[in-house]
Formats: sequence, C-alpha cells, structure tokens
Amino acid sequence: MARLKIGILISGRGSNLQALIDACARPDYPAEIVLVASNRPDAFGIERARQAGLPAVVIPHRDFADRASFEAALDGALSQAGVELICNAGFLRLLTPWFVERWHDRQINIHPSLLPAFPGLHTHERALAAGVRFSGCTVHFVRVAMDEGPIIAQAAVPVLPGDDAETLAARVLAAEHRLFPLALRLVAEGSARIVRAADGGERVEIAGAAVSPDAILNPAD
Ligand code: GRF
Repeated sequence: MARLKIGILISGRGSNLQALIDACARPDYPAEIVLVASNRPDAFGIERARQAGLPAVVIPHRDFADRASFEAALDGALSQAGVELICNAGFLRLLTPWFVERWHDRQINIHPSLLPAFPGLHTHERALAAGVRFSGCTVHFVRVAMDEGPIIAQAAVPVLPGDDAETLAARVLAAEHRLFPLALRLVAEGSARIVRAADGGERVEIAGAAVSPDAILNPAD
C-alpha cells in the first residue's frame, strides 16, 4: 500500500499531532508522517515527534525578516521531505495567499468549532456566550480566508450545564483526537473529494461514509 506522505505543522502542545502519530503507527493506515515542523522552539509537539522517531524541524518565524521568507523556508523543508499533504495541527501562524495557493487542495486544518460558526480565536468562550447547545470541531481544506474551506468531517459535542471554556475545550479536544485521524484517512485513501459546483462553491463528497440520519437532541428528549 502506498501511503500518503504528510507534513504536520504545529505551534504548541501537539496533542492532535499525537493522535496522528498514533494513527499512522497502525499498519493499515494510509498515511505516514515524513516531517513535523514547528514555528516555535518550545513547542512540546517537537518532543512528541522526536520520541516517535519522526523527523522534526523548528523554523522560528522570529528568525525571518518577513512572512514571505519564513514561508519560503517552511515550503522548502516540506518539499524536501517529500510532503504530499500538510496537516495543520494547532499551527498558530496566518499563512499568506502564496503559501496557501502553493498547497491548494494539499493542506488541511483542524478548528475547534462547528464551522462556519466561530472561526478565529476564543471559540469556546464565544460558543458559550452565544448559548449554543452543541459545539465541536471541523477538519477542512485550507483556503486563503482563515478557517474557511471545504469541510471534510465534523464532530459535535454537547454543551453541558455548568460548562466553562476549559471543560468545553477538553470535551472538544477529545473529539478532535478522533476526528483528525478519520478525516486524514478519508483524504489519504481518496474517499474525500472536492467537488466544484456551478455556482463556484466547493464541497467535499465522501464515498461510502457511514452516517446515521437520526437527530441528536440537547437536552435529550
Ligand atoms: C486544538 O484545539 C486545535 O483545534 C486548535 O489548536 C489546538 C491545538 O492543540 N487549532 P494541540 O496542540 O493539538 O494539543
């Protein structure tokens, strides 16, 4: 089985990276990690990559005069490692249109909300302030606009009485760790395909996905 070569971009803790490391360790998983790159030297994810014996590189954005030269270095490292698909796993740098277009349809991101609700930062605080009954996470293809792009997979979690941003974040994070490996598998095995509609919109079609048509109610009935 040819496995899709992925590069993972991180900036911090790397718990989603760990979920992908664990998934890629399974012999039947259709992707392999060929590079982990962090823009922050203190990212714990770099330690996780090294412990797993994976190639890891720190490319500190502060060492570069501008975004363009930082991204050129990042792009060079990814290309040299033979990366075919980038996974953004808690990567906290805005990417320029140049980089995004260069990796068009070859870069996916995880975001801790049910997009298109609550793009950007402080998602859990904003979800709680809005009083939504469900939150969750989304894996999507990256486009120039932040947290936009064709949605591959989502996980919904209930907002529970007494939740604060921390408890909600922990519930969403546990769902992220299930969702990211699933979404990556769908892309790597070719079952998730971007379909361009006549109106110019883009959607992802999933071949042979198991879905339950039942509603999930919160509060339950
Ligand atoms: C996750 O919540 C992810 O959705 C967001 O940043 C967080 C990264 O956490 N983009 P980790 O570094 O994967 O633990």
